[in-house]
Amino acid sequence: MKSFNWKVVHDREHDDDNTSKTTPIYQTSSFSFSDLHDLEVFFEPDNKRYMYSRYGNPNPDQLARKVSELEGAPAGIATSSGMSAILSGVLSAVRPGESLLIPEDVYGGTYDLFQQFFQEWQIDVHTVSFTDLAMVENKITEKTALVYTESVTNPLLRVEQIESVINIAHKYHVPVMVDNTFATPFFAQPYELGADLVVHSATKYIGGHSDVTAGVLVGEERLVDVAKRKAIQLGMNVSPFEAWLTVRGLKTLSVRMEKQSANAKRIADFLNDHPGVSVYYPKYLAKHGNGAMVSFELDERYDIHKFFAELEWVKIVPTLAGVETTVSYPLKTSHRSIPAYMQEKLGITAGLVRMSLGLEDEKDITDELQSALKAAEK
Ligand SMILES: Cc1ncc(COP(=O)(O)O)c(C=O)c1O
Repeated sequence: MKSFNWKVVHDREHDDDNTSKTTPIYQTSSFSFSDLHDLEVFFEPDNKRYMYSRYGNPNPDQLARKVSELEGAPAGIATSSGMSAILSGVLSAVRPGESLLIPEDVYGGTYDLFQQFFQEWQIDVHTVSFTDLAMVENKITEKTALVYTESVTNPLLRVEQIESVINIAHKYHVPVMVDNTFATPFFAQPYELGADLVVHSATKYIGGHSDVTAGVLVGEERLVDVAKRKAIQLGMNVSPFEAWLTVRGLKTLSVRMEKQSANAKRIADFLNDHPGVSVYYPKYLAKHGNGAMVSFELDERYDIHKFFAELEWVKIVPTLAGVETTVSYPLKTSHRSIPAYMQEKLGITAGLVRMSLGLEDEKDITDELQSALKAAEK
């Protein structure tokens, strides 16, 4: 059995006559056939032919296969974004009239999809704090068709008790879907722990270079097959080039995560030494690190506008997981659309900053933070 790092870096599968070292880009909307018999072969079970890129294309398929391997899952699909991967996954398990159980601190875009879109389609969404597992169990009813959670939450970096959530849901034969975007398979492999579906915004660490929008859903074959059909029907396919770029980025996942999480640990320690700064940094995520994100809250001793304005090279961007250190302001971006009472309950405050650590040297980042914090002191 090959190692995780072997699976991360090796991408070329010689299943054709082409011997190029890396996988070519199949930048085509369609594939051709030599005669009607040849066309018929496409519809035979287990055939490896392609017909039309919305149905399948070697580059998205390769991305799906690679992430499935890293997660230890038997099947997967690559889609046009994290949101479309979430949508296809939920639609594979839940039907109108049924309900979903989600933590109250899910990513804002997911919260929006669940609370608005699904409610309009007669799928009930029940929200509860997943820090209270008795409450999670209490909320499961005969209508619950899916329990959905995130391995590490955004932006407060709560580490989900995945195994306990899975045990509770499976006791009632309810499948579990986990968003593993922040942890990545480098730090957590929810499928191996028993999750039925695992989803990624590949826009983040899987791609890793802030140059693609893509998603991946992996998991049980039965559910992924249904999700794939929905993705084809709804046209959620990712383009061959974006899939190729994502696979290219994925090859450095392990080295990026090692360096970026080491930076995150040091920056969390650095911020912890500052009065008036409360730090959110996951503990005990994995033996070899705790992720590459740090969130922190500046209290009334700091002017938050000044802090952002004084950053010289750390850019303010509403995304994360690139090779450069960046910051975001959750209150006005990722969590803008959730109700104010919920923002307050969850701790999405006016002083909250989410930092995505990059590959720079630690000193570059501490120097930058030190001068912005100093300038922001009231
Ligand atoms: C945890 C998480 N899941 C899903 C998404 C949605 O991904 P995308 O923007 O690729 O659709 C995001 C986006 O920020 C995210 O942070």
